[in-house]
Amino acid sequence: MSTLLIKGGTVVSSTGRVDADVLIDGERIVALIAPGTEPLGPITAEKTIDASGKYVFPGGIDAHTHMEMPFGGTSASDTFETGSRAAAWGGTTTFVDFVVQYAGEGVMEQYHKWHEKAAGNCAIDYGFHQILSDVQDESLTAMDELVAEGVTSFKLFMAYRGVLLSDDGQILRAFQKGAQNGSLMMMHAENGSVIDVLVGQTLAAGNTSPYYHGISRPWQAEEEATHRAIMIADIAGAPLYVVHVSAKQAVEQIAAARDRGANVFGETCPQYLYLSLEEQLAAVSEQWGELEGAKWVCSTPLRSRHEGHQHHLWQSLRTNDIQMVSTDHCPFCMKEQKEMGRGDFSKIPNGIGSIEHRMDLMYQGVVSGQITLERFVELTSTTPARMFGMYGRKGVIAPGADADIVIYDPAGHTSIGVGKTHHMNMDYSAYEGYEIDGHVDFVLSRGTVIVDETGYVGHPGHGKYIKRGLSQYLL
Ligand code: URP
Ligand code: ZN
Ligand code: ZN
Repeated sequence: MSTLLIKGGTVVSSTGRVDADVLIDGERIVALIAPGTEPLGPITAEKTIDASGKYVFPGGIDAHTHMEMPFGGTSASDTFETGSRAAAWGGTTTFVDFVVQYAGEGVMEQYHKWHEKAAGNCAIDYGFHQILSDVQDESLTAMDELVAEGVTSFKLFMAYRGVLLSDDGQILRAFQKGAQNGSLMMMHAENGSVIDVLVGQTLAAGNTSPYYHGISRPWQAEEEATHRAIMIADIAGAPLYVVHVSAKQAVEQIAAARDRGANVFGETCPQYLYLSLEEQLAAVSEQWGELEGAKWVCSTPLRSRHEGHQHHLWQSLRTNDIQMVSTDHCPFCMKEQKEMGRGDFSKIPNGIGSIEHRMDLMYQGVVSGQITLERFVELTSTTPARMFGMYGRKGVIAPGADADIVIYDPAGHTSIGVGKTHHMNMDYSAYEGYEIDGHVDFVLSRGTVIVDETGYVGHPGHGKYIKRGLSQYLL
């Protein structure tokens, strides 16, 4: 095992920042040393990285991804290999991907299939959540087996009838099991029945462009489903984590539940903080015409900026009404994938890829005064680690923790876009032209340098499966 010293940087945690050198032995951090001190004699290491003038962050944890997910008649375009490599480029050192069980499929079979897809291919560490669709007795048994395997969180859907949707009774049964075995219940909160009718009516009226994807999934459908999920969780006595929240009214439902003392948590994504219905879904380009907006078709949809959702979401990150920012990384190319929805927005595969950019985009929130540097660390690493049972090993720079570390240059610069910074397997960037006032200089995964001044130097198979514990926010 080799030793490595990160010297001269400012170590940032969710509670503060301190000038300290970080000593790594093998895969773990072994000491934080005040600069200029030699408490146990001179510190020597086989390798030293100069971090003077740089921030030293715990590696990013993206707790919501869909690598190679079969969806919408095609498959998400990043494999575990390409997606995890892109994540590394952007300072993410752990991701939690969703195993999918579509109606009629076996839960454990799917879980084993996901292991086969990921094993030997990942550049960084990874864990799994499990999606349950048609909740059967067998699914409830599988939930116990999966918790023992380190899959301690389960996602259900209130939308996508016939594909992923669970009815309220099925949701209740899964939540009751969650209340019993301590796992965290995650919800895609949109009223699918209402949306299906609106989509049909919208298309029948001749409104077929991507803009109408947003129009046919109104915030009321998100607010209603969020409220319903909270009530069902309350009945079951289960903790609830609402994924990809985009509507300010849904935030208010989550905040009200938390104020009542309920174990309800909310996650938003960079797309809901930065992008909008008017600017993206309604976009028209020379290359794609009005299909341009398909680049940003995802569900829940991008919301109107005039209605103030983006502003409210940033605020909710400051006030802790929303606790998490994940990407919901689910990339599709325009060619042959998003294109499937030309003339019918309901056929556009739903999803946006951004695993590479979450850290930079959230750091830009520090630069623009939306969040503090400490809150940035909390949102991108510490809270995901605690929420999903990895804290101590992940999410913190402290003796005993895995040496998952990002050395970030606040004086550096990152230009996002195809041909610039873009390593995801997709033929466009959802953030083309975004300029970031900061730069990921070095990335370490369990003590191994995987990004340095020359670029990505990691390899597939370095990343290991993380057997997660129960959420550390729950008693
Ligand atoms: O549009 C989205 N969000 N695609 C990924 C699947 C999901 O619902 O998270
Ligand atoms: Zn979802
Ligand atoms: Zn998702």
